[in-house]
Amino acid sequence: MSSTSPFRTAIVPAAGLGTRFLPTTKAVPKELLPVVDTPGIELVATEAAEAGASRLVIVTSPGKDAVAQYFRPQPELEQTLAERGKDHLLAKVRRAPELLQVETAIQDKALGLGHAVGCAEGNLTGEDDAVAVLLPDDLVLPRGVLTRMAEVRAQYGGSVLCAFDIPREEISAYGVFDVREIGEQDVKRVVGMVEKPKADQAPSTFAAAGRYLLDRAVFEALKRITPGAGGELQLTDAIALLIAEGHPVHVVVHRGGRHDLGNPGGFLRAAVDFALEDPEYGPDLRQWLEGRIGTA
Ligand code: UTP
Repeated sequence: MSSTSPFRTAIVPAAGLGTRFLPTTKAVPKELLPVVDTPGIELVATEAAEAGASRLVIVTSPGKDAVAQYFRPQPELEQTLAERGKDHLLAKVRRAPELLQVETAIQDKALGLGHAVGCAEGNLTGEDDAVAVLLPDDLVLPRGVLTRMAEVRAQYGGSVLCAFDIPREEISAYGVFDVREIGEQDVKRVVGMVEKPKADQAPSTFAAAGRYLLDRAVFEALKRITPGAGGELQLTDAIALLIAEGHPVHVVVHRGGRHDLGNPGGFLRAAVDFALEDPEYGPDLRQWLEGRIGTA
């Protein structure tokens, strides 16, 4: 384990109902919807592996086995592709199972993100002093913020979260950090969090993103919280409890882009963004879009 990678396990909660993608999510987990040709959850698993994780715990629900299935090898398909000389496709099919060791934890009922993370506790070993949590519907670009967060944990201990600096007029859509300066441009100490504040009451313009590097102490805190917003057990309530008890929590302000894959509008934006960069589909799509928008 390198000094900048003080975690080996990444938890990806994927047991939500995905109601914003109904009716599709009656049958297809939203985590498997393709951004061009690759499911969002593979993009996030790649990010975790690049940051040094060797194990991925996918929290899934009894009806969503397809998410774990996606990470299992498919020998018959691989053989067929090999026989047909489709090496490019073979490489794509093998990519996800080779990324890292994948396990599942079951959340029987969608009782909230905090509850989902707590369901992964049984998968941890004595070596897991800290775990990364990545929300599969939040693409943080360019990849690499977890590596920076690991450096911050190595320096300050405790837990490290990720934030975007958002224009104040848009801040009321987010969870917002109350921070104190510690003399670093992109690292702040967190003293509190406010969900969806009014713009003029927001304690900062730093909005929470779906990347967490959490000290193992969070699992104890998760057992002590009660249902919060929406009747769900909220991860942010457990983090607030840690802050209140003097546990160090810092935030890394990530200067980059993000896509919210959790709703059809954000998902389409991500798909178009990625497709425009794709050598196979980009040029045609650009031309079509220019014509489509020109005639709208
Ligand atoms: P979201 O709130 O974005 O996902 O949770 P959702 O609840 O599935 O979506 P909607 O609001 O109904 O459309 C963020 C992540 O946390 C997981 C989700 O699967 C998603 O990846 N999650 C959420 C759980 O695993 N369990 C829960 O109880 C809630």
